[in-house]
Amino acid sequence: MNVVNSSASLWWREGVIYHIYLRSFADSNGDGLGDLPGLIAHLDHINGNPDALGVDALWISPPYPSPDKDFGYDVADYHNIDPRYGTLSDFDRLISEAHKRGMRVMLDLAINHTSDLHPWFLESRTSRHNPKRDWYLWRDGRSSGRPPNNWQSVFGGCAWEWDQTTQQYYYHMFLKGQPDLNWRNPAVRKALMEMVRFWLDRGVDGFRLDVFNLWFKHPDFPDNPRRLGVRGFSRQHHLHDYDQPEMFDALAEFRSILDAYSQRAAVGETFGPDPWRAASYCGDDKLHMAFSFEFTECPWQPAAFLKAIQRWEKALEGVGWPCYVLSNHDRPCRHASRYGGRYPDAVAKVAATLLLTLRGTPFLYYGEEIGMPNVPLRRSQLLDPVSRRYWPFLSRDSGRAPMQWNTSPNAGFTTGKPWLPVHPGYHERNVAAQREDPLSVFSFYRDLIRLRRRSLALRKGSYTPLTSHPTRGLAYLREAPEEQALIGLNFSHRPFRLRLDYDLIAEDWAVALSSLSDSTAVIAGGEIKLGPHEAVVFLRG
Ligand code: NOJ
Repeated sequence: MNVVNSSASLWWREGVIYHIYLRSFADSNGDGLGDLPGLIAHLDHINGNPDALGVDALWISPPYPSPDKDFGYDVADYHNIDPRYGTLSDFDRLISEAHKRGMRVMLDLAINHTSDLHPWFLESRTSRHNPKRDWYLWRDGRSSGRPPNNWQSVFGGCAWEWDQTTQQYYYHMFLKGQPDLNWRNPAVRKALMEMVRFWLDRGVDGFRLDVFNLWFKHPDFPDNPRRLGVRGFSRQHHLHDYDQPEMFDALAEFRSILDAYSQRAAVGETFGPDPWRAASYCGDDKLHMAFSFEFTECPWQPAAFLKAIQRWEKALEGVGWPCYVLSNHDRPCRHASRYGGRYPDAVAKVAATLLLTLRGTPFLYYGEEIGMPNVPLRRSQLLDPVSRRYWPFLSRDSGRAPMQWNTSPNAGFTTGKPWLPVHPGYHERNVAAQREDPLSVFSFYRDLIRLRRRSLALRKGSYTPLTSHPTRGLAYLREAPEEQALIGLNFSHRPFRLRLDYDLIAEDWAVALSSLSDSTAVIAGGEIKLGPHEAVVFLRG
């Protein structure tokens, strides 16, 4: 199927989106870094044939030229591909090969800041009178050599860097190698919007916007008020360094560009934990979706997930469409490691069922379909500056290890030296082995995605929780006019009967899928009988 010519609507609402951390997915040339040809060679794993995972869209981490101070999130040229990842024609080939396999492609756009090696910044820092000076946020210091205000970098330390040549400070919310752009300068905005068109014209189907709600800062740069907190960044109320109202006008312009093309969509990475804030950025003249990351903070307790779902549903009521994520390249811990314990595969299947059966768009992180855990790393093996700074409390590197394809050296990821160590357990846990095993995590993901694809209730139905005070399990209903789905999840390793809120729930349900091969799940007397760590989807209608 060629998705671009198909009339399928709202792929971003009904589909499943797969997040590829490009440098860790598949290396084609033995330099130890994943690349575009490597990804293209592995597209059949993801979709385009009956044995594939079956997702609908890919989100590719930034492939642009970058000095990699923040591993691609410091862009040095927005109109090109880093030669280590391939070429623009490889990128065009990726789009056409993905489309042939029924998948859309979303590109990561990191436009809050550039690299300090971007030509715009190199010009900007040459003199106070350079035409590009105002493309970034330059300010004089306060008296006695103090920076312009008290704003902190989220990666640690002061957010202002002194420039000896021009005797001013520039602002960087992240690393000092990532100077923030001045979104209030119309020339900056124009250049960025033209760049958005450049990629849309190449056939990109959408974008993941990196920290879009940081684009604007208060024009007067006042100090943030102080608050109690454990480290610099959390010791302030961030009233002035992000979430400024001017954002809405910029989002509306961005959205109007997308809407001038057919079926394009954007999901925003909302900076900050509050789902209400994330919801405020969704809508017809804003983003299609914004992430709320509450699931990535939930302990393995049904009540915690229920609370996060209820908050997200409430926040989005009438304004937006939910999306859910359990792991990504910024979270210090993949969920297989966060929750796995003694029963990693069983837990991975319950988590997958939750992610893929809620009302909303599921985002999978590469490798979660085989239950990939975090790779254990010593401090000396860390590359990410944030991981090095906060080790052992936080290591983003641990969740970014190479994909485990098969049992050949380096898990089939590279013939060279992988940029990060491969997990030593790859001989047992890899794609090839799990494809052969009908009871594997991979087989379960594939079956679940197939079920989701053919079920209107799962793709479009309303959501009603059925367990208001859950202790060991969760249940909820998904209802479309033509079909209903009832999902039951046992978070524990003991069989039990999950009491539903409504005694009168009908009993003529058929099991469509269970995570247990010997399931005896049944709905009777207002209860669901569940086996150990069982995830079950019943259908009716
Ligand atoms: C969010 C990205 O996901 C993260 O990886 C990056 O370090 C920061 N934004 C800065 O771009």
